[in-house]
Amino acid sequence: MGKIILTGDRPTGRLHVGHYAGSLKRRVELQNSGQYDKVYIMIADAQALTDNAEQPEKVRQNIVEVALDYMSCGLDPEKSVMFIQSMIPELTELSFYYMNLVTVSRLQRNPTVKSEIKMRNFESSIPVGFFTYPISQAADITAFKATTVPVGEDQEPMIEQTREIVRKFNAVYGEVLVEPEILLPDNKACLRLPGIDGKAKMSKSLGNCIYLSDTEEEVRKKVMSMYTDPNHLKVEDPGQIEGNTVFTYLDAFSSDDHFKEYLPDYNNLEELKAHYKRGGLGDVKVKKFLNNVMQEVLSPIRAKRKELERNIPYIYEVLKKGSEEAREAAASTLNEVRKAMKINYFDDKALITEQIEKYR
Ligand code: TRP
Repeated sequence: MGKIILTGDRPTGRLHVGHYAGSLKRRVELQNSGQYDKVYIMIADAQALTDNAEQPEKVRQNIVEVALDYMSCGLDPEKSVMFIQSMIPELTELSFYYMNLVTVSRLQRNPTVKSEIKMRNFESSIPVGFFTYPISQAADITAFKATTVPVGEDQEPMIEQTREIVRKFNAVYGEVLVEPEILLPDNKACLRLPGIDGKAKMSKSLGNCIYLSDTEEEVRKKVMSMYTDPNHLKVEDPGQIEGNTVFTYLDAFSSDDHFKEYLPDYNNLEELKAHYKRGGLGDVKVKKFLNNVMQEVLSPIRAKRKELERNIPYIYEVLKKGSEEAREAAASTLNEVRKAMKINYFDDKALITEQIEKYR
């Protein structure tokens, strides 16, 4: 059996460098590796609505933003199927059947759901749709028989929940669904890139993101204002690397070539870190280097985006075509599911004959 990728993002804002380091960059590499029979990239608008039910306009506006971000990073409609979740009604039907295979207490124990409930202050007023989104995510993944789900670390409980649903479904109804594997970034700093303020998560509401579509000047300003070691006051002072956002970003984005190009006094990041820890290296110098690194990473993405922005109808065309293709794949899985669940009444010749016999 072939290898199939499915992954996606909620369209609640433009994508930022956390998305890039945590997943997007990897997706492009996987897409180009030739090792996958299919790559599906989904804009999860229905999931975005589970906690943005009252902001449909926000979700709607961000579909194109996310698609532009995807394609400017190198996701290629010739190689990957990019589509919109709500255009595939089969996913909703699958979710409805999977709901019978999951308990309320299991959902309550899902760590991602737990922390998101806290983050959104839902407490006792949790929308049912939001509460059950791990089930709908299992539908997203299994509808395409995905073997591989490249995502950030925060999505691990979702994939685990999906695997449980697959095992349960296959045990009850027969082997139809495929148990997916999570693919995490192999660079540890990329697992969860902090915001520029040093807070654990980059989030639009905290205003601590560097967006892929930020201008050169916006990126520079953000890098120069980054959280470092608050006790590193004088250049001569020894500095701390742990929890120092600038170094976390360097871990995620810099290479030895960047040193050759922009900071030849050091051969690599280890040497720079050693100097910082010893004392005698100022934050501004490190930040200027990081700015050069980030500009090198982001400028081709920015340029590609500018080009794509001039042809918005093309973006819609890509998503429409992608949604059509994705729908076919999901419909084929749904057919198998219905058959396995014995709810394919009109196609079930044996059942019809059986009923005829019974009343003969
Ligand atoms: N939950 C993911 C996020 O918040 C988006 C998503 C929806 C997804 N369905 C998916 C990711 C299926 C991977 C596979 O970013």
